[in-house]
Amino acid sequence: MNKSTVLLAASLLPLLSACNALAPNTTQTSTATAPEAAWIGEARQVAGSVPPKLMAVLSAAIQQGGPAHAIGVCQSEAPKMARAASEATGWQIRRVSLGNRNPKAVPDAWERQTLETFDRQQAAGADGSRLERAEVVTENGQQVKRYMRALPVQAACLQCHGTADQLGPGVAARLSELYPQDKGTGYLLGQIRGAMTLRQNLQ
Ligand code: HEC
Repeated sequence: MNKSTVLLAASLLPLLSACNALAPNTTQTSTATAPEAAWIGEARQVAGSVPPKLMAVLSAAIQQGGPAHAIGVCQSEAPKMARAASEATGWQIRRVSLGNRNPKAVPDAWERQTLETFDRQQAAGADGSRLERAEVVTENGQQVKRYMRALPVQAACLQCHGTADQLGPGVAARLSELYPQDKGTGYLLGQIRGAMTLRQNLQ
């Protein structure tokens, strides 16, 4: 792993580490001395702004027509919202998951490693809503700012991503119509469903 990895716990002082432990779920601050790069705060804010907007749209759709109806709304609106946010902010924004529903939401190697670490940390007791990773990586000679923020499963997610007994009425049938390759069910409360992932060239 790149030595410039910056490890963070959202809204805590950043902790620096030369190895690959991510976002320790701790309030320890005494050794945190390095100033945080400004882009990290910006990425964190952008990554945090999209999911609540999407969830508001989904909640309205669920109220109107139930969760099975809302699946189609998510299918059309989620990529659109990510595109709009990308255009508005200059960051390339998308969602990825180790158990992806959208066939395109497959993580690349950096994202996969991050998601696997998030899973391990969550299993070890970390609060998924605080897990993030920020790093400048070199790809084909270009330095790229990369940021990921975990999306943990909340109660409201279970009707579309939970175990069979938790899925809303008609959800399983609708999912098999729209996402025949779906891997996005079977999740438990608190587990990491996936992540927001952002990237931007570092000039
Ligand atoms: C109304 C059903 C519904 C609810 C509620 C819902 N999702 Fe999803 N979710 C979907 C659908 C449908 C997709 C695929 C969207 C697409 O095609 O891009 C999806 C995709 C995702 C993805 C992108 C990766 C992938 O697998 O394609 C993540 C991450 C995700 N959901 C997390 C969550 C979280 C976290 C919650 C709760 C806060 C949640 N979802 C609530 C239906 C839902």
